[in-house]
Amino acid sequence: MTLINKLNFPDSFQWGTATSSHQVEGNLTNNDWYAAEQQGGYIYENQRSGQACDWWNRAEEDFDRMAAMHQNAHRLSIEWSRIEPRQGVWDESALARYREMLVGLRQRGITPMVTLHHFTNPLWVSEAGSWENEQIITWFERYTRKVVAALGDLADIWCTINEPGVVVSHTYLLGRWAPGKRDINGALHATINMMRAHAASYRAIHDLQPTAQVGLAHHMIIWKPWRPYAITDLLATNMVRYMFQELLLKTIAWGVMRVPGRRSYLMPEVRNTLDWIGLNYYQRYRIRLGLPPFSKPSVEHRTHPDLQTGPGEWGEIHPRGMFDTLRMLWKVYRIPLYITENGIPDENDENRPGFIISHLHQLWEAIREGVPVKGYYFWSLIDNFEWTEGYDPRFRFGLIGVNFETQERHIRPSGNLYSAICRDGGLSRDLVSQYAPHLAQTVFSGA
Ligand code: FCB
Repeated sequence: MTLINKLNFPDSFQWGTATSSHQVEGNLTNNDWYAAEQQGGYIYENQRSGQACDWWNRAEEDFDRMAAMHQNAHRLSIEWSRIEPRQGVWDESALARYREMLVGLRQRGITPMVTLHHFTNPLWVSEAGSWENEQIITWFERYTRKVVAALGDLADIWCTINEPGVVVSHTYLLGRWAPGKRDINGALHATINMMRAHAASYRAIHDLQPTAQVGLAHHMIIWKPWRPYAITDLLATNMVRYMFQELLLKTIAWGVMRVPGRRSYLMPEVRNTLDWIGLNYYQRYRIRLGLPPFSKPSVEHRTHPDLQTGPGEWGEIHPRGMFDTLRMLWKVYRIPLYITENGIPDENDENRPGFIISHLHQLWEAIREGVPVKGYYFWSLIDNFEWTEGYDPRFRFGLIGVNFETQERHIRPSGNLYSAICRDGGLSRDLVSQYAPHLAQTVFSGA
């Protein structure tokens, strides 16, 4: 066994962070999340996103921080409700601001990955039924064309939709996001429309920019039965895994959506509409099928008490799951991959340094096995508005902390660690010894 002191990544590797418009820009008052904030009942302490990180006015200050931290890539999203505030009405000044932002990134040597849809819909779209209304396919395509025509000279890596599976499950099945539905048919229609909207967007981008690299960001969880010997837990686990994450990718691979217990939906137009898959990887859940009353089984997820977890229902931290998922994705789909998100809620930065090290170790192992992962976008550069968790202090994701009263930033130790990793193009033994000495043995032993 050769002793090595550094896990090197490919020279062309994209080292970055990810953000999204509603979570950082501030003063977004024309989308469905704003409406939910006004309505109350969905967000921690009924908070509002408000000024968020004030990116609409000061993104460049954080771009300077990215550059100082040696990042060469950033994943950000465009806010549809700014570009098309009313149906068919385009706001050129919003497009101009995004141009300015993309130019700002590029001037600092940071390659942008642009997400077109990260959870929010303009109010006019949500009033028309959001993803349940199939017209959204045409609307989303038109919006895509507008954005790509305006910004395509500044970006060529596009992410159509962020986490379709999360949008569907939280909005239409679990009732957690406005309008809080629990409706299987609604969920099904939304899924179909999302996939078709993705496909229409994919083709529109290629039409305008043949060299573009287009994918989507998919939230994938490691699902495990709570009691491996219980057939009920096993079946429930397989079902959840299939519905939440396999269905989408398989439909895109095959052009047919197979829903257990229902008919198959032919969708030839969605076939082969991914140039890459973006993996958003955070955690592992154990599934248990709650029994009584048997007529109404419910699927619960639990966390093993002995394993490291996050707050609330965050689940278990399980770095090996990133390796397993990457290997599976490459084996089945044979297209390049990105880690489009990976991170941990950890205000005091107790676990984030170790989290980064152990996940990058697994990512390195995957690349070593020949899995073509082209970049890693840590979630997130800065603390921001965390959807239903709002500004709950337990849900701080930033390498850089934000004081939301004053907009002051402070870099966390994990920010310095990630900065050194990006600078070195890999993970050195010295860094591991400095930031998480307990991991040095594991990370370098088998290398
Ligand atoms: C992902 C979302 C992202 C952020 C992280 C913590 O599911 O895509 O916006 O909220 O979780």
